[in-house]
Amino acid sequence: MIDLIYQKILKPVFFCFDPELIHKYSMLGFQYLKPIYPVLNLNYSHPDLKTKLANKPLANPIGLASGFDKNALYLDGISAMGFAFEEIGSVTRYPSAGNPKPRLFRLIEDDALINRMGLNNIGIESVRQRLIQHKNNFPYGINIAKTNNLAYPVDNEIEDILACFNYVKDLNCLYIAINLSCPNTKSGIIQEGKLINDLLKEIYQANTNNLPIFLKLSPDSSADLVETFVDLGIRYKVQGYICGNTSLTRVDLKTKTTLLTSYGIGGLSGKPLKKLNINLVKTVFKLKLADQEIIGCGGIFTGNDVFQYLIAGANVVQAYTGFIYQGPAFTHKANLELFKILNKYDLTVEKSIGILHDGFSFGDFP
Ligand SMILES: Cc1cc2nc3c(=O)[nH]c(=O)nc-3n(C[C@H](O)[C@H](O)[C@H](O)COP(=O)(O)O)c2cc1C
Repeated sequence: MIDLIYQKILKPVFFCFDPELIHKYSMLGFQYLKPIYPVLNLNYSHPDLKTKLANKPLANPIGLASGFDKNALYLDGISAMGFAFEEIGSVTRYPSAGNPKPRLFRLIEDDALINRMGLNNIGIESVRQRLIQHKNNFPYGINIAKTNNLAYPVDNEIEDILACFNYVKDLNCLYIAINLSCPNTKSGIIQEGKLINDLLKEIYQANTNNLPIFLKLSPDSSADLVETFVDLGIRYKVQGYICGNTSLTRVDLKTKTTLLTSYGIGGLSGKPLKKLNINLVKTVFKLKLADQEIIGCGGIFTGNDVFQYLIAGANVVQAYTGFIYQGPAFTHKANLELFKILNKYDLTVEKSIGILHDGFSFGDFP
């Protein structure tokens, strides 16, 4: 029912307005619906969908990706919509208004978005306060990045990210993700091996509570850079890798070139990203240690998409754009479809991780 209302009434209206404005007000509105969350029944659960990330149990493998709830405002709403966890952020040491607007565009023909938000967020001190006060035990990760605000020039990016880490390292979170792959800031993707090495070393030494660390990678990185990230991730004992961020590429899009040109630069997300990021998952799966984990992300709209990520080597997945296009019933539909696929192959989420590399052949579904 809620799916029908979203697809037939809300989405056509929402998509007439500025995407950023709609994002803010629809989620704030949803937070007010708290008393009726149980009636909406947006969760789909089954024992075969249960899994683990960083040794913590999750009800299903679908989380909300970074960028949606940058300031930790919507944990109740996201939990009610059936996500198993969410990633807050990216949050930076200092607050930032991000890039000038407009900075978020819909590519409706491609089921995609282009964004150059530029890490707008209220800063780590305020997010920390919010998380301390929040009493919901919904699992969350925190994605941290380098400050992108001319009012707070950062001479030393290691110091900046480390200070950010120190603000959250005592929180009871699922993991900390380090975003080294934001394409929408002045410094862009961090590419320098020595810098990554020194940063991970400092974080390793500062991580006295042994919080699981994930590195968020870019599908635009060279094979060498991906290898460097994984090598250093092994050296400094990170829990795993998020594969991955948005892409600056614009390949095989249905959206007219004139329109794309008018939108300008920014990270592409949604369906066109799926192939790129599944390939990144496959590459990282072969390079990482067996006990390290992968969070797959990019273009996930259906249970079939989730399954493709799992068999390629992802332990769990995250979505952002698919949620925007599918609405509040997104995780229910995707988890139900995933369950049917697992059932067809006599698998569970945990048994499907990486089986593509063992020769599993995935026929057409349904
Ligand atoms: C509007 C928008 C803002 C985003 N902001 C962030 C961010 O702050 N930090 C980050 O690591 N990723 C950010 N992302 C990237 C997403 O977390 C995700 O990696 C990417 O969108 C691919 O997933 P999707 O195809 O499901 O959207 C953002 C994506 C979008 C669309």
